[in-house]
Amino acid sequence: MPSGESFYITTPIFYVNDVPHIGHAYTEVAADVLARWHRQAGDDTWLLTGTDEHGQKILRTAVANGVEPKEWADRLVDSAWKPLLETIDIANDDFIRTTEARHEDAVAVFLQKLHDDGFIYSGEYEGYYCVGCEEYKQLDDLELTEVGDYAGQLVCRIHSRPVEILREKNYFFKMSEFQDALLDLYETQPDFVQPESVRNEIIQFVRQGLSDLSISRSSFDWGIKVPWDESHVVYVWFDALLNYATAVGYGADDERFARRWPAYHLVGKDIARFHAVIWPAMLMAAGLPVPHKVFGHGWLLVGGEKMSKSKLTGIAPQQITDTFGSDAFRYYFLRAITFGQDGSFSWEDLSARYQAELANGFGNLASRVVAMVDRYYDGVLPAPAEYADADLAVQATVAKAAADADAAIERFAINEAIAAIWTIVDELNGYVTAQEPWVLAKDEAQRARLGTVLYTASEGLRALAVLLAPIVPKATAKLWTALGAEDALGPLAEQRIREAGAWGALPAGSTVRALEALFPRIEEPATADSGAA
Ligand code: MSP
Repeated sequence: MPSGESFYITTPIFYVNDVPHIGHAYTEVAADVLARWHRQAGDDTWLLTGTDEHGQKILRTAVANGVEPKEWADRLVDSAWKPLLETIDIANDDFIRTTEARHEDAVAVFLQKLHDDGFIYSGEYEGYYCVGCEEYKQLDDLELTEVGDYAGQLVCRIHSRPVEILREKNYFFKMSEFQDALLDLYETQPDFVQPESVRNEIIQFVRQGLSDLSISRSSFDWGIKVPWDESHVVYVWFDALLNYATAVGYGADDERFARRWPAYHLVGKDIARFHAVIWPAMLMAAGLPVPHKVFGHGWLLVGGEKMSKSKLTGIAPQQITDTFGSDAFRYYFLRAITFGQDGSFSWEDLSARYQAELANGFGNLASRVVAMVDRYYDGVLPAPAEYADADLAVQATVAKAAADADAAIERFAINEAIAAIWTIVDELNGYVTAQEPWVLAKDEAQRARLGTVLYTASEGLRALAVLLAPIVPKATAKLWTALGAEDALGPLAEQRIREAGAWGALPAGSTVRALEALFPRIEEPATADSGAA
């Protein structure tokens, strides 16, 4: 996209019934990398995350713990969900809670509009409901268990727990009226839902026919009151989806809303239906633009199953960051898993990649190059003399990597972007080995050549620091300072990422400073008994 445009990206808002695990952190990190990339490209970027605090699931958890639901939500937000953002180094621009007045008031505005415009009617809902999913279920979403505690009962396929039968007076949204418009949207805007596997599933689902959606509950009161009938609260998903609009000014600040909206939504594929069917139908009914994109990423699997707290396969992000650090967490999940597909987590794989790619591949390269400038040139970056073929090959790799990475980010192909950037790491390692600057240093006649080699390697590191900053912000900040780039070029965050591939930005004469190990050796990596397969 051309620089300067609005890039508003969201994560799902997370249920506060429990603490975060690495599946939640995975979504956060992916959204943060995309946001940091666009911010560094000069786009008008906004990253929103937050918490989903209403509904039966939270109410029941609070009751089970003997506290009021709001008190429970406050506790989890302060002790777990906000600290998560620190743990994995998320630079969000806003954090919305659905219990905030700015959200509740705007939800009422939206609902009243749909009511006034004739999209809402009252009726009787009778059917199945899964409190785990907070979702009305059809028979084909369920299975009859034959063994175990729930033998003979219909259970939700996702939670493997019995569904409940609801029979209550509800308000309904005329979602069925939007079936054709939705199919048309998927057809005319093929990248509205991505990846292709999720898009196909959504199209198939909508083609089977859409029913109207119950959007209120009357059997409990933990939620936003329906403005014209206070004996109902808004259905939690209807309330939650609206966070993406209320957080950027819907119903309160039209100018702010117009500046940010529409959004790019990053969600797990399990909740793509809510985002790619219900949400655009709601927006169409309100006469608002639909989102730019809904991207449904895959699941982190542990022992072959979707990681989940309810199935006791959850791993806390801090278990990983305590040993490996937040940069390694961010790098590992986005590099090792094809974004959009499921991926298995293992401590062995994490540890092996940390050592081979981060510590040996990138970290050592940076330390060695900086140390040689220090040793052979008293820390003052030499000017390049005439470039030879090997130097030009480095320049070509840098230019291509930068262009390929930006194109991959545009498609949300984060792992491909990292792989493209890593061609620079590999090229530079091969270059330093082949050019043998330590041999050149012994021969005064090779002084000019040594200068060219060390300039080329340092300038390659400059490009790497800029391109990797969204992924490993802490390590690249250290590298930036060590290269003397902070003084010469200004803060790393202000380096235009789409210009990172242009050769020669780092000026000769910059003062290089010693670099501590970017990814220190880990003596005893965590093992399988720390909780994962
Ligand atoms: N509150 C709803 C979302 C409302 S958005 C308007 C919800 N919350 S959740 O706490 O259950 O979090 C769901 C999200 O967490 C998933 O969409 C996904 O982004 C992430 N993940 C939860 N488990 C996951 C894995 N095992 N693997 C990858 N992501 C996972 O649903």
